[in-house]
Amino acid sequence: MQTILTDSAEEAADFLNCGGVVAFPTETVYGLGAGICHPEAIKKVFRAKGRPGDNPLIVHIYCLEQLADVASDINSNARVLIERFFPGPLTLVLKKNLLVPDSVTAGLETVGIRCPANLVAREFLSHCSCPVAAPSANLSGLPSATSWESVYEDLNGKIDCLLRGKPSTIGLESTIVECSGTLPVLLRAGAITLEQLRAVLPEISVYAVTDEREVPKSPGLKYPHYAPKASILFYNVNETVTIGPSSAYIGLSDPPEGVALFKICKNFDEYGRELFSFFRYCDAHDIKVIYCELPANTGLGRAIRDRLLRAAGRL
Ligand code: TXA
Ligand code: MG
Repeated sequence: MQTILTDSAEEAADFLNCGGVVAFPTETVYGLGAGICHPEAIKKVFRAKGRPGDNPLIVHIYCLEQLADVASDINSNARVLIERFFPGPLTLVLKKNLLVPDSVTAGLETVGIRCPANLVAREFLSHCSCPVAAPSANLSGLPSATSWESVYEDLNGKIDCLLRGKPSTIGLESTIVECSGTLPVLLRAGAITLEQLRAVLPEISVYAVTDEREVPKSPGLKYPHYAPKASILFYNVNETVTIGPSSAYIGLSDPPEGVALFKICKNFDEYGRELFSFFRYCDAHDIKVIYCELPANTGLGRAIRDRLLRAAGRL
């Protein structure tokens, strides 16, 4: 299949409206979209990524009026979060509307819903004739794509169209909050921090698997994620480590002596934005070990820590 590259959100939406699969920029990471009214296109999304069929997709909407097309019940907690954080890097899990096919939600009674803030994403979604189901636009298991070039690397020839935009400004996938029950639960940390969520919903809890036999609340949590080919090791600036050849470092502190490549970030915003593209850069340069500074569980550090632990196979 030939993948058409375009800078026109309207042209990209035409592909989607004809049953095509289209990658598009968002402020978190690039998404790989199919219209929820196009069942064949949804299957194609799973095929293109090599994604297991039991891992549900997030549905992207353009405006709050579309909420009623995807959710069947918007409770008071959801209203608070929508009012405060939509559009933006937040996904809400709500009871699904019958219009959302089982192939999107992997048979769950709930659906993840997000309204991105990125202007190109919004223009694209405004031209789409139905809500857009979209996982991150990367091959399953690899780091998410935060630039159109990364999408191209993974998916050229497997998708109908790639809408080129700027690199994602956040670089980490959205915060996910399960909001279908009485008590809201943070399922995935992201740029909307736990502290920000607690400021409006103090009773929100953090999901943690306590029993390995338990089915995870978010099916995607059971799969390996975000992993570069290189091994991930954690580096503390007060430690002395013996660096092997072909090693790299990313973090806020100075790098350990002897690494071949490094990225020192000014703050967590930059760390989050650069993390996945640095992983991909290291793989392209045959790096074998990436030393990473592991942030504490506060603010945006929580999301970076989560992605690092998953990439290292430690979650
Ligand atoms: O920032 C993002 O969220 C990006 C952009 C493209 O919007 N999308 C994204 O999608 O990261 P994906 O498919 O890579 O991750 C979605 C996660 C998966 O772990 C999936 O299991 C979970 O959301 N999820 C989707 N629907 C769910 C549901 N109904 N209940 C619980 N978890 C759900
Ligand atoms: Mg993903």
